[in-house]
Order: sequence, then C-alpha cells, then structure tokens
Amino acid sequence: MGRALRTWALWLLFPSLATAGYRSLGEVKGSSWQDNRLTLDCGGPQVQITVLASDLVRVRLGPAGEFGPDFSYALLGRDWPRLSCAVTEDETQIVLRTTELQVRIQRMPCRVTFCTAEGAELCRDLEAMGMAWDGPRVQCFKMLHPEEIFYGLGEKTGRLNKRGRSWVMWNTDHPGYDSATDPLYQSHPFFIAMRGGNAYGIFLDNSYRSTFRFGAGTSAFYSFGADGGELDYYFIWGPSLKKILTRYSELVGRMPLPPLWALGFQQCRWSYYPESEVRTLAQTFRNKGIPCDAIYLDIHYMDGYRCFTWDANRFPRPQQMLADLGALGFKVVVIIDPGIKVDPAYWVCAEGLAGDHFCRLPDGTLHVSQVWPGDCYFPDFTRPTTRQWWGSLYAGLIADGVSGFWNDMNEPGVWGGTFPDIVQHSHTGQLVDHLAVHNVYGLEMARGTYEGVRKLRPDKRPFVLTRAGFAGVQRYAAVWTGDNVANWEHLRLALTMCLGLGMSGVPFVGFDIGGFEGSPTPELFTRFLQLGILTPLCRNHTSYGTRDQEPWAFGDSFEEMNRRAIRLRYELLPYLYDVFREASLTGIPVMRPLVLEFQKDPATWELDDQFLVGDALLVAPVLSEGARMRWVYLPEGQWYDLATNQLHRGPVRVMVDAPLERVPLFVRAGTVIPMQEPVNFVGERPAAPLILGVYPGDRSSVDSLYEDAGDGFAYEQGEYALRLISLARDRQALRVALGPRRGTYQPPRSHVLLRVNGCARVPRQVTMQGQVLPHVDSMDRLQNVDRGWFYEAERMITWVKLPESPGEVNIELR
Ligand code: GLC
Repeated sequence: MGRALRTWALWLLFPSLATAGYRSLGEVKGSSWQDNRLTLDCGGPQVQITVLASDLVRVRLGPAGEFGPDFSYALLGRDWPRLSCAVTEDETQIVLRTTELQVRIQRMPCRVTFCTAEGAELCRDLEAMGMAWDGPRVQCFKMLHPEEIFYGLGEKTGRLNKRGRSWVMWNTDHPGYDSATDPLYQSHPFFIAMRGGNAYGIFLDNSYRSTFRFGAGTSAFYSFGADGGELDYYFIWGPSLKKILTRYSELVGRMPLPPLWALGFQQCRWSYYPESEVRTLAQTFRNKGIPCDAIYLDIHYMDGYRCFTWDANRFPRPQQMLADLGALGFKVVVIIDPGIKVDPAYWVCAEGLAGDHFCRLPDGTLHVSQVWPGDCYFPDFTRPTTRQWWGSLYAGLIADGVSGFWNDMNEPGVWGGTFPDIVQHSHTGQLVDHLAVHNVYGLEMARGTYEGVRKLRPDKRPFVLTRAGFAGVQRYAAVWTGDNVANWEHLRLALTMCLGLGMSGVPFVGFDIGGFEGSPTPELFTRFLQLGILTPLCRNHTSYGTRDQEPWAFGDSFEEMNRRAIRLRYELLPYLYDVFREASLTGIPVMRPLVLEFQKDPATWELDDQFLVGDALLVAPVLSEGARMRWVYLPEGQWYDLATNQLHRGPVRVMVDAPLERVPLFVRAGTVIPMQEPVNFVGERPAAPLILGVYPGDRSSVDSLYEDAGDGFAYEQGEYALRLISLARDRQALRVALGPRRGTYQPPRSHVLLRVNGCARVPRQVTMQGQVLPHVDSMDRLQNVDRGWFYEAERMITWVKLPESPGEVNIELR
C-alpha cells in the first residue's frame, strides 16, 4: 500500500485522528549505533533503542528530535553492564540481536517488533500507527492477539486479566469505590502480556496521566500512552512471569525486608482515643488471647490534625502510654498526612515556610487546599531538600516510641479532588506543573518518610504504610487498597487488587479487613479476616462512626472463629517471613496468582478467586455470602487439604467444605513449611520450638528456612540463619535433611519439632544421623525428652523432636 493510501485508510479507520494534530513515525532516514544504543532519525522525530540486557530493551521517542534529561522517579538508575549485541541491516530493516531477543526495526514506516532469538514474534508495533504523538500526548499502538492476556497495572479493580478495558493512571482518592472504578490511589504503568503461556512485560516510565487500552472498544490493537512527558518504555522478555517480575523489580527496586512485627495482626480504626480507650483495646487483645502486634492511631491523636503533634487532652503522656503498650508487646503506628495546617504558630508550618518547602502557584503565592485541619500547605516532596526536612520531622514521634508511620491522603487527596494543575513542583530543579508529578507525589512522600525514619533510627527497619504510590513504591512502603466497603463485592476486589499489585512489583499489600465504609455482618467480617490472615499486610480498619470491628465485636462464636484465624496467621509466620525474604530478593510477590507458579497450565491463566502464598500454600477463600463449600482448582501435583489431611492429585477441580470457621487451605506435597505455635505477638516466646510441617509427596524438594533477629540490619552483615531443607521419599523411607545452618544468627530455641503429615501407619523406626530415636507414647512425654518421636494416629502425624543444632541433620522415617 502506498503511503498516501495507507494514510487514507487510517483516517477511515480512526476518523478522529484525521482532524487532530496526530502524527506517527515515518521513514527511518538515518541511524547510528553507539554504546548499545541505536538512534534513529525519522526525518525530525528521533527514536532511541537501547539494549540494556539480553532480555531488556529501552525505547524512547523524541517527536521533536530531542530527548529530555534522563531522569526517572521509578528507576533505581543502575548502570547496566555492556553486553554483546549484533546489528545487521538491509534496505527494509535493522535488526538487533542478543542471546535472547531480536529487535527488528522496520524502516518504512519506522516500526519496532520484538521477537525471540529464534525469530518468533512477541510484540509488534501496529503497522498503521506504532509510536505516535499529538501535541503533548504520546502513545504506542501494538498489535493485539485474540488470545492475549494482560496482568499488572498495580492497584486496579476488575479481574486479574486486565483485557477488555481501558485503564488510567492518575492517583485518585475515591472513597467507597466499586469494581468498575478507575483510577484509584496508585499508578503502576507496568503490565505483562501473555500469549500461549509466553509472556513479556512493558514498563512505561512516565509520571503524567497515562492510559492503557487493552482491547477496550477494539480488538485491533492495544495501546499505552501518556498526556505529557516522553514515550519511554522498557520491554522485558520472559517467557516466564517470574523472570519478568525479577527483571522489572531490578529496574524499579524491591521491598526491603520489613520488621517481623509488621507481619503480625494489626488493629486500626478511625479513631481510637483517648489514651484509656487505646489501653483497654490492647489489654482486651491480651485478655482474650487474640494475637496482635500493632495498634494504629488515626487522625484524632493529633492536636487539631496538626501532623507530628499529640492532642494533650486525649494523649497527655504519650511516652508512658507507648512504653506500657510496648511492655504488652504492642507497636504503635500513627497516621501522617501531607497537609500542614496553615498556622504560623505551629512549628511544622513555621519550619516549612522558613525552609520554603511548600508548593506554590505560578505567581509565587503559596498553594492552599483544604483537608482535615482546614486550610493547609503541602510540602513539595519532589524536592530532595524538602524530603530531607520531612524525614527529620519524625524525630519527636520516634523519640516518643512510635514504631511505624501511615502516610495517607497523598494522591494528594484534598477536599473536592486534588491539586489544581497549575500547582508548581521543583522536579529535578526545574519548576513543572502538577500534571507532571501528580502520580509520584505519594511515592516521594513515602520516600521522604522512609529515608527519614531510617536515618533517625538506624538500628530498626522502618515500617511505612502508604495509600498513594507509583512504580517503585515498594522500596519505601507497604500499600493498602484505600477506602473499601463492607460488602461482598469488596471482598473479591480485595483479592484481585492485591494480586494485581503483586504482579506489578509490590509485594507488601493488604486491604482494610472488614471493609472501611459501613459495617460488615459477622459472617462478612470473618470471611474478610480469613482472607486477610493470608495476605501480606493483615490490618483490620474501619471508618469513623461505624460499628465496633475488633475481632471480638461480633459475638462469642464469631470471636472464637476470628481468634482461630488470627492464630493461624501466627502459626504460619515463619513461612510467611521466608516468603517475604524471597520477595525482597527477587521481586516475586508473597501472594501469587496460580499462573505465577503454573504458567503452562491454561486453567490458571485467569484464575483469580484463589491464590498461593509463596509456592506451596494454596488459599481458596470463601468470597460469597452463605457459601459453606466451594470449588477449588488444584494444579498439577499432590495437595494436602490442611483441615482433613486428605491428599488430592491435581490437576483437578474439587468441591471442598468451607465451613464458616475456616478458610480452605492446601499444601503442595513435597514441601516443608516452617511454622510455630501461635503466640500473642512477635517475640513473645523466642525460645519456643520451630515446627517444620513436612508434607511428603511424590516429588522431592528443597525448601529454604530463613530466620534472623526479625528487626535491624545485622542480617545484611551475615547475621541470619539460612538452611536448606530437602525432602525425599522412596518405598523404604522418608528422608528429611536439614542442611547446615548458614549465617551467624543463632535462633534462641533449644528444639525443633518435625510434624510429618500423611503417615498412614506408625513408623517402624525413626532415626537421626543414623541413630534410632526413642519412641514415646504421648505428646506430653515428647515435651519432656530431648529427642524422640510420637505417632498421632488420628491425624496420621508423626511428631519428631530434635535439639536445635547448626550442623547438618538427617532424619529418616521407615
Ligand atoms: C482516609 C483513609 C482512612 C482513614 C481516614 C481518616 O479516608 O483512607 O484509612 O481512616 O482517611 O484518617
């Protein structure tokens, strides 16, 4: 087709383009190759294609023939080692070849296609449009395949597969959103496209409002683009989803290992006050034996909503209160909003004015918006000196004994919306208007908080929770999904939103258990909790004026069910911590859609009503009212039903019992799950034995067990305990080998208990290092011996007790 004809055809297809200043790339007129970067001159507009790694390519478009400063809020900015990349060209195309990829650049018009090293096409610019611009707007149009599935995009409603809708990135405070609402609080312009089980990822590094059309309104193409800034994207080749997430998190950073207490149960409401109420709350948890590690103080703890202050009537002795709560095993987390009350007599306001830290309008006057305290100024978090100042403000609260910080309203959310577009920010030292940095305001606030707290208390790991964020937010904070609602639709949404965040590099995620707006029925609360105890962040929270929502607030029988659920989380904490550590090292989420582990199985591709914690624990939460059974898909392998110990062989769909008192859980056979007896809070019984839940199966496996002090940074200097645990079974014996402990951390316990499941008969003999272990006839007796074993016939469990020791330990059951 000739050029003119093609343009005509385009106008017929997309009439709106005919009138706008829309343009797409024309012919490649010239090219140069230097430092693994191909620069293309397209008769004015320029394109840069940089090969960063064999599976990672950056593409930048400069419609006016130039590129802005190479600056990114999301990227870690690492130097990529040079790799060898072959360049060949002929009249029609230029081809870049790495060991994993071919990037083919068609000359007329300039279009980019990514192929595997063998030449199979993965991702192709749409012939008609490709990379395009229209005034400040930039877009990229790609071919859409009928069977293409999309994951990622961060905190989005809808389903796990994001296809069929168009999605916007524009951080928005939308209280009481529903399953169709978009956008919400966070922006993650990152997605993964998968076809036939082969996946690639794309990260659009642009902080303006951006739009992702995934087959919405047309199945001819998909597109991504932004209202300003550059078309600057990273292509990451899989084909494995895990590989993509690892690469992506290498680009934008990973979650630092949080303090262990932050994995415990957290209790919040808007708001617990005065002090006596907080003390009663804490004592009630302990009296009732319901585990809890953190209590939150919402906006009423402050003096007139002035951040970094205490209300002297409600909390006259904060230090004493925090010390007493600490003695009961509680950490306290307080809310901090970005809005600083306009009140020159208030020290934060005065300091902010003196340091020129607040955002201004183009005429130089200070920008004022209203939030909780009334008129407020807002720090310009895009400025490094302002972030440093902001970080320093936490000194007082830290000295008082506050353990964690909750950054809210940082979309920014103000009464009536967000900042006017014209608010100025000093992004990279140059004033830009709010449009350019709106989406990173929350990220930069969380960054200021994290860096400040880390500096002020260098011996502790910061815990920061943020509502707004952008790609990379996991470097600084955990994320919760904002103001959800106490209804069943939201229970389902909580699950898919957390999965979506995980598939976007954000592992430490959760939602308001019970729902923020409104009050849940007892049943809904319990089902929310049963999901929440298996999500990375486990926080109960509710709005002002709603019913009591503590785990005991729904009557005795529900209290007992809720206690059981929370205790189960504490039993699983050692496993959870191990999975968190993996996430901190690899970017692979704690909470995983099944497709992440079983990518070749099409039945998992769109499965989003069940998930895995790590690679071995499958959770099938009950998401509908009145349901007491549910279908569960168990992929390939054998799976133990945790409640019945029944073994299923996948792939299979099974209908399982899901009574109100429990959440259906399955463990992949051939796994060792580290566990503990439930405790009331992290660190309550440091010497309690570790329990290794052994789930024998057909496959042999090697799992890891990671432990450290649970806080501080000594682990970075080798003060951790890491051992590999392998499990193998043949006709004669089951063998569990605890590899030698690596690292210098010494767990403070004296014993380890193996809980070997699925023992259909009493073992004839159990040995440790080849030596026969004594058999005892009750669990009580087992408690009193240094080593030995006991067979619990009813549950078909063999308990083996061993002394804790650093060397290799080999256990055999025959
Ligand atoms: C916002 C937060 C909510 C908090 C409330 C009061 O709505 O999302 O969690 O309780 O503000 O601070």
